[in-house]
Amino acid sequence: MDSNRIYIFDTTLRDGEQVPGCQLNTVEKIQVAKALEELGVDVIEAGFPVSSPGDFNSVVEISKAVTWPTVCALTRAVQKDIDAAVEALRYAKHKRIHTGIGTSDSHIRYKFNSTREEILERAVRAVSYARQFVEDVEFYAEDAGRTDNEYLARVVEAVIKAGATVVNIPDTTGYCLPEEYGAKIRYLVEHVDGIDKAVISTHCHNDLGMATANTMAGLLNGARQCEVTINGVGERAGNTALEEIAMILKSHSDIPLTSNINTTRIFPVSRMVSSLMNMPVQANKAIVGRNAFAHSSGIHQDGVLKEVSTYEIINPKDIGLDDNNIVLTARSGHAALRYRLETLGIKLSDEKLDAFYQEFLKLADKKKQVNDDDLLVLAGAERAAVAHIKLDYLQVTSGKGLKPVASIGLDIAGEKFEGAAHGNGPVDAAINALKTIVRRQMVIKEFTIQNITKGSDDVAKVHMQVEHDGHVYYGFGANTDIVTGSVEAYIDCINKFQH
Ligand code: KIV
Ligand code: ZN
Repeated sequence: MDSNRIYIFDTTLRDGEQVPGCQLNTVEKIQVAKALEELGVDVIEAGFPVSSPGDFNSVVEISKAVTWPTVCALTRAVQKDIDAAVEALRYAKHKRIHTGIGTSDSHIRYKFNSTREEILERAVRAVSYARQFVEDVEFYAEDAGRTDNEYLARVVEAVIKAGATVVNIPDTTGYCLPEEYGAKIRYLVEHVDGIDKAVISTHCHNDLGMATANTMAGLLNGARQCEVTINGVGERAGNTALEEIAMILKSHSDIPLTSNINTTRIFPVSRMVSSLMNMPVQANKAIVGRNAFAHSSGIHQDGVLKEVSTYEIINPKDIGLDDNNIVLTARSGHAALRYRLETLGIKLSDEKLDAFYQEFLKLADKKKQVNDDDLLVLAGAERAAVAHIKLDYLQVTSGKGLKPVASIGLDIAGEKFEGAAHGNGPVDAAINALKTIVRRQMVIKEFTIQNITKGSDDVAKVHMQVEHDGHVYYGFGANTDIVTGSVEAYIDCINKFQH
């Protein structure tokens, strides 16, 4: 085993997917898993099988779909969770069970109302049980970041003796400082008997903006696996971003660590995940943000024009960002569209490309130039076309001195319905008109409209959260017409609980 090789464990489809509103269906998860395989990740955490039939099924299907990466399933330190994981992983060519329990005094006392000794026993029992079914068992000590190092070392030693092949040291709350986290890993390297029999893994959250720094501190102090997500997606402030670690390892020749990541796939995978999860990448996000390579100050531009290395430490081509700016317009052909889509990680059959091209032409008629974000939005709209409730038409009259009024046509499972209503604004009128047809108790909890470029002809992206029957559902719409985009987002929410 190369002692400088870092194993990349991607948890976009488990920890990343826990974000409200970012849930993917099984087909979308397979698409992401295949892209992760192409990217070169070593382990794909595919889900938490016991948590829902959907998660279970996704682990089954991802296990069938990928060949090279290890497929991993999460469990609590509970037999029925482990049984579900074993069953879900049955088709995986390389499989791993990821089991664990909270080890900080806070978790032991408040979550489990237990004692350190009892938790240690439960950890050992879970690992031994999982080892009866699979050879590769990873143990996580949840909230290890705030766990006393001496006790953590005892737990880690015991689970390795019980057969754990990987020991995961999560900074679950994102609290640690880099020095502290690095020292924790070093402490384990130096104090755990048998540590050489297992790989130490980092798993850092970004609550204080230190996930990447902490992960690097862990790797520099002896960890050889890091758990990461594409674009850093994850609960609260997210997880360590895969692309940041991959590019740190690639750019720093002074660090002897390497990974298997094909960095030229980073940009397409980033955009694919952003599009499928309806989770925009912040413009100044390291590596994959829209502005990550845009030099706007005069001094920087001058320097870059004279010699690119003056201000650029990464060649954009290394992350798959081609500077070959093909601008798509209504006169662009199929080949240019296919090329652009493939750059964004979207591969379509000839037949699907034809249908997509027609939608592209409609948008290109409304907008002079169609950019990458527009294409990703169109790809999302294509998914909405198979929904239960579809918007047939919407007509809204509003303006100064007028009482806004809307009439709407819906297609519900093939049947046509029409409604009309007033409102205190155009969106309110349109949603009231829709409610005359779909009579469900729903409360809008969040409603944001974003545009991507600054142009008045831009596509508006609408994110909405609606509460229904005690649950919150997330919906997304995108249209050059803000009111239509809002209604599409509202319908998207309804489609989530209709099925
Ligand atoms: O953050 C965390 O502690 C986790 C574990 C379940 C691995 O995600
Ligand atoms: Zn986590």
